Amino acid sequence: MSGFVEKPEPQQVPGLVHLHTGKVRDLYRNEAGDLVMVASDRMSAYDWVLPTPIPDKGRVLTQLSLWWFDQLSDLVPNHVLSTELPPGAPADWQGRTLICKSLRMVPVECVARGYLTGSGLVEYNDSRTVCGLALPEGLTDGSELPAPIFTPATKAEVGEHDENVSYEEVVRQVGAETAAELRRMTLAVYCRARDIARERGVILADTKFEFGFDGETLILGDEVLTPDSSRFWPAAEWEPGHAQPSFDKQYVRNWLTGPESGWDRKSEQPPPALPQQVVDATRAKYIEAYERLTGVSW
Ligand SMILES: Nc1ncnc2c1ncn2[C@@H]1O[C@H](COP(=O)(O)OP(=O)(O)OP(=O)(O)O)[C@@H](O)[C@H]1O
Ligand SMILES: [Mg+2]
Repeated sequence: MSGFVEKPEPQQVPGLVHLHTGKVRDLYRNEAGDLVMVASDRMSAYDWVLPTPIPDKGRVLTQLSLWWFDQLSDLVPNHVLSTELPPGAPADWQGRTLICKSLRMVPVECVARGYLTGSGLVEYNDSRTVCGLALPEGLTDGSELPAPIFTPATKAEVGEHDENVSYEEVVRQVGAETAAELRRMTLAVYCRARDIARERGVILADTKFEFGFDGETLILGDEVLTPDSSRFWPAAEWEPGHAQPSFDKQYVRNWLTGPESGWDRKSEQPPPALPQQVVDATRAKYIEAYERLTGVSW
C-alpha cells in the first residue's frame, strides 16, 4: 500500500466540477471547459503523500512554474490561460491556481538529464547505459553527461513507481512522429532552462515535463522546472563522487529514512508526521530555489 494516508475532500465551488485529486494538485473543470489546476501544500515522497503539509509550497510551485513558462514562451507553447481566481473560489486559492487549456495528456513523463544521479546512476553502474543509451566509462554520482539525454518514463497510477522506458517503447506507445517531437522539445527546453539556472548559480541536474495535445499541437502542460519536478543543486558546492546538496525534497527523504522518523520504508506503513523543524527546513529549501532562480524575494 502507498499513496494517500487520507485523501482530501475536493472543495465545492459553484460552476466547477471536480475531476481529479493528484498527489499534489487538485483538478477541476470550469463552465468554459477549461482546466482549473490548484496546487496544494501536499508533499509526496517515496510514493506516499506525507501527512504533514509544507506551508506555501503550492504557491511557490505555481509562481515558479509561471516564471519558467514566461522564460520559455518563445521556445514552446504552454497551457496557461489565466491566473484569475474563479468566482466563488476560496480566497486561499490565490497564488496557487492556474486556469489552463485542457489537454489530451501524452502518457509519457518526458525526463531530460544533464547530470548522472538517482535511477540513472543505478542503471549506469549496472550496464553503462541510462534508459538503454550508452554512456562513457568513468562517470560517477553527480557527473555532467557529455550531452543532455532524453530518458522517458511511463506515468504510473497513484502509489506506483514511474518506470523508465526506452525511446523505442515511446515510439510504440505514441508513434514515431510524436516521440521525435517530445524528445526534441524536452531537450530544447532543458538546455534553455539549464543555461538560465546556471547563470543564477544553480545546476539543473534533471527535470520532468508533461506535454499534451490541443488539437494537433503539442503543448507544455503540468508544472515546469520546480523542486518537485527537478533536481536543483547549488553550483558552488557541486562535486561529483557523492550525493549533491540540493534544493528539493532530499532533506525530507533523508529524515524519513533516517533513525529519527522510526519509519521503515519497506513496511507498507504510512510515513509519520514531520516534526516542525523538518517542515521549516523544507519550506526554506523551496523558497530558496524560487529566490535564487527568479531573483525575486519571496
Ligand atoms: N493542461 C492539462 N490538461 C489536462 N491534464 C493536465 C494538464 N496539465 C497537467 N495535467 C495533469 O494534472 C495532474 C496534476 O496533478 P498531480 O501532479 O498532483 O498528479 P500526480 O500525482 O503527478 O499524478 P496523478 O494525477 O496520477 O496522481 C497530472 O495528472 C497531470 O498529468
Ligand atoms: Mg505530477
